[in-house]
Amino acid sequence: MDTFEAIRTRRAVKKFDSSYKMTAEQVKSLMELVILSPTSYNQQNWRFVTVIDQSVKEKISKAARDQAQPKDGSLVVVLCGNMSAWKDEPTRYWRNHPVEKQEQVKNSLARKYADSPQNRRDEAIRSCGFAAQTIMLAARQMGLDSCPMVGFEYDQLAEIINLPEDHLISMMVVVGKAAEPAAERGGQLALDEVVFENQF
Ligand SMILES: Cc1cc2nc3c(=O)[nH]c(=O)nc-3n(C[C@H](O)[C@H](O)[C@H](O)COP(=O)(O)O)c2cc1C
Repeated sequence: MDTFEAIRTRRAVKKFDSSYKMTAEQVKSLMELVILSPTSYNQQNWRFVTVIDQSVKEKISKAARDQAQPKDGSLVVVLCGNMSAWKDEPTRYWRNHPVEKQEQVKNSLARKYADSPQNRRDEAIRSCGFAAQTIMLAARQMGLDSCPMVGFEYDQLAEIINLPEDHLISMMVVVGKAAEPAAERGGQLALDEVVFENQF
């Protein structure tokens, strides 16, 4: 499958085949691709909770207002942001580069995030957005389907995954085999409503 086909055939699947189980190797391969997703300053501020345990997936479905995808899908990835990534030994994000580069990035991260919870939050949501798309496109390449989800009770999901104080949940993505194709697309807006040349 090429990238264009993966983009065109990725759909938010509502009905997963509950008998299909991904192997631990498949989950690992998927997550190895996901951590290649881009982050500002390569700060890798996402954290992923992968859930294949059926009893936990069922709890997540309950927290997701009884939506079936988490319990019927094979894998639930809860995408979280670490608000402390900017200060958590940041030189390691550039450990393959000279020390001067590492120090430069460390200072830039402190300037942007130390005094701005808003910047930390925005960055986490941005990073998780890219990672979510990587999960969904890589899943297509693996012959799998997905559903991104934010329809859940935040506090309940936070408790289920034991979310640390300085982390937030951005969204979750369910991965598995579709039992039914997604419904017809809702209807994309016309290009000229959403794309502007040079300025609005
Ligand atoms: C951030 C986000 C949250 C979503 N939350 C849910 C959800 O809780 N339940 C659900 O069934 N679909 C959810 N969706 C799927 C959207 O409804 C779906 O992506 C949209 O209708 C477009 O359809 P498509 O993804 O098949 O192209 C979510 C999508 C996004 C991007």
